[in-house]
Amino acid sequence: MERPRYLVIVAAGSGSRMGGEMPKQFLTLGGRAVLQRSIDIFRKAVGGVRILTVLAPSWQAYWRDLCMQHRCYYPQTLVDGGLTRFHSVRNALALVPDEAIVAIHDGARPLLSPELAGRLFQEAETADGVIPCLPVTDTLRCLDMEGETGYGSGRPLPPRSEIYAVQTPQVFDAALLKEAYTLPFEPEFTDDASVVEKYVRQTGAEKRIVYVPGERINIKLTTPDDLRLAEAILASR
Ligand code: C5P
Repeated sequence: MERPRYLVIVAAGSGSRMGGEMPKQFLTLGGRAVLQRSIDIFRKAVGGVRILTVLAPSWQAYWRDLCMQHRCYYPQTLVDGGLTRFHSVRNALALVPDEAIVAIHDGARPLLSPELAGRLFQEAETADGVIPCLPVTDTLRCLDMEGETGYGSGRPLPPRSEIYAVQTPQVFDAALLKEAYTLPFEPEFTDDASVVEKYVRQTGAEKRIVYVPGERINIKLTTPDDLRLAEAILASR
């Protein structure tokens, strides 16, 4: 029997690094809200996907109105966001059945290709977790900061060839992800793979978590420059 497929789209952050009143997931990008674009990619790529949209309670009425305005009548369940991304994901997982395959995606990543979304779900049929990542191209350094000015800290990092930037969507066996999210919160849990890997290390469970190539274009809109870049990318398509 085909396993149910779920998308948990996390969009309960305040987007403070973007500036402005409006959280970044509701900003307009090429005529549509960033969050609508992110969801549309999965509706196109993953047949029958069930959508759980995680939003701060205070923005849920706004989002409903926006969906009506743009005639987005597809079924979605709104879930209350939590204090951090970790708590937001955990709230949504309560609604995901154990037998499902579930993708967790940042609402502020509206540029990935439907091909990547579809491929990650497909690979998750035979793995416990599939995570998109890319080798970093910048040189990374640990700094001690005073305001916006930094000083070399001397703290070593692994060689750049061993460091990868990790993206979303991250796609998992739902039973494993739900188990992992019973761990207590830690500040370094800024994505889902870090939670699952901690759980696997702690329990010694034998699980296959694979890292596969992501997409350079799959940026997380964080600053006003990112939004301008996204507009330019859409215009060039
Ligand atoms: O802050 P950061 O950019 O890492 O957030 C990643 C994603 O997690 C964003 O889509 C944001 O809306 C979401 N988030 C959330 N609940 C929070 C904080 C962030 O759903 N409390």
